[in-house]
Formats: sequence, C-alpha cells, structure tokens
Amino acid sequence: MARAIGEAPGKILLLGEHAVVYGHPAIAIPLRSIRARVELEFTRNGGIEVVAPDIGERGTSQGDAPERVRPLVRLAQSVLDFFSEPHRGMRIQINSTIPIGRGMGSGAAVAVAVVRSVCQGLGRHLDADQVAELALEAEKVFHGSPSGVDNMVVARDEPIYFVSGRPARSIAVGPSVFRFVVADTGLASATREVVDQVKAGRDRDRARFDSFFWELGSMASVAREVIRSGSAEELGLCMNRAQQVLQALDVSCPELDKLVYVALENGAVGAKLSGGGRGGAMIALLGGNSDESQLVARLRLAGAESIFTTVLSRHQE
Ligand code: MEV
Repeated sequence: MARAIGEAPGKILLLGEHAVVYGHPAIAIPLRSIRARVELEFTRNGGIEVVAPDIGERGTSQGDAPERVRPLVRLAQSVLDFFSEPHRGMRIQINSTIPIGRGMGSGAAVAVAVVRSVCQGLGRHLDADQVAELALEAEKVFHGSPSGVDNMVVARDEPIYFVSGRPARSIAVGPSVFRFVVADTGLASATREVVDQVKAGRDRDRARFDSFFWELGSMASVAREVIRSGSAEELGLCMNRAQQVLQALDVSCPELDKLVYVALENGAVGAKLSGGGRGGAMIALLGGNSDESQLVARLRLAGAESIFTTVLSRHQE
C-alpha cells in the first residue's frame, strides 16, 4: 500500500509564554525551515510500530515502547477511535529537523504530523483545529497541562493570537516587515518542570505571579496591534519588557541572558527567551536597517548551537 504522509513545521513563541497557561493571550509563529515528517503504512500484523531514527527510538504497541514513543502509539490509535475505525497494524516512521526540547515545537509538530498521516492513510479529513486538538492529548504526557498553543500554531502553520480554550485568531500583518533570528542555547528546556515550578511559585505568592502573567499577556495583546499597524521598534519594546518579566518569574538563565544581551548589542531592537525557558531558544527582532548576517555571526560566537530566521510580513515567506 502507498505510504501516507503527515507534516508540520516547528514553532516559536513570540510573546505570552507561561501567561498563556493561566488564560492570558500568546502570539506564536511557525518556523517553516524546520519540520517533522511522518510516513505511515498500514500493516497486517495488528500492532503499531513507531520508528524514530533521528532520536534513536523505536517501539511497538506490544508494551515495549519507550516513554517518548508511547504517547504516539496511543495517539495513532486515538485517531482510529475518532473515526470509529477498527484498530489495525501501522508502521509509523518519524523524521524531524526540529531540535528536541528547545521550545521549538518538536513534540507538537511530531504529534500533528502523526495525526495527519493517519488521516491521510484512512482517506479522512480533519481541519487544522481538530488536528491540533487530537495532538494535544499526546502533548499532555510531555507537558502535564499544556495551554495548547504549540499544537495550534504548528497545525495552522500561520502566525496566531491564542487564548486557551478559544479558537485561535490569525494575525493580519500590516505594512512593516518583522525579521526574527532564533538562537538555540543548546540547553534542553524541560518545559513541564519549569511550568510546574512556576505553578508552585504562584501557589506561594498568587498576587505577584498573577501580575506577572497579566503583564505578559498584555504585551501579547499590544504586540498584536503593533504587528497590524506598528513598527519593529515598537514590537521590540514589547519583547524587551516581556523578557524583564520572564526574568522576574525566574524562567531565564545565564545562557539565555547572554544571547539576549548579544542580540541587543548587535542590531536587535527586541530580544527575549521563547517557550518554557531555563534553556531552549532566544528570539530576537532585527531593527529596520540591521544586518542579519552580522547578528547571526555574533550569536554563533556567543555559543548559539543552531540559528534560524523567519520573517513576518504581509507577504508571508
Ligand atoms: C510552551 O511553548 C510555552 C509554555 O507557555 C507552556 C504552554 O503554553 O503550554 C511555557
């Protein structure tokens, strides 16, 4: 039988991380230069086999699946259940160029790609929001209580303004062009643990943490208006303020702070951590005339493990 294919891009959070877990808005954009791709074949042996050569993992539905692969076996079954299709054998091969555990949506993209591959194999269709919802179940295993923003942005494959539990809104980009550079610290960010620690902090000092979340969410709301009609300099101010609040939340780390500093010294008008923090990625926004290649070179010298660029403009890449 022909192979069914499912794909999804990486993602980066522009604003609103952590606050989005508490019902505040976030802005997320796809990172299209990195992708997860799943190839699926129905087999006759009745089991589900997941092969992920990029992460050296392999597992089956017979109970020997490693922890990272198990939710994907269940996810594939849940797509069959969604369509009330009988369970059947599947071989699912996962390939991904998205760095793992860096807040770039690796888990979400793989989950979305699995859902899409099963849909294609069955000859069924789901819209992007339904795909995101099914994929969220797999993400819960990794992230405990994810807001859902990661699944939604990789399933939609467009910049979104997201509030948990509500339909995501597309963002109409105005006349400005926003050029971003994303740098990976090379350190894994354990999103689930950081989210749990933030929750513990909030349980101790609710008023203080809620004011942090409120401000982070407000920056996301202001940023949406800026993307529609403002300038890179204005968006940079939102990002810089958000970074200060994220530092106060204690989710930054010296490696992220260093990349933020280097970015702001080399042509960025805004820079902040992105995603869970304490490792993972930094996102910087270039000023109007700044030289992207110089900033990329300086970030490499400062220890960035890998660097990606993306543009928000009326005419998307
Ligand atoms: C994950 O990319 C960002 C966090 O806000 C967690 C979540 O939204 O589930 C830290």
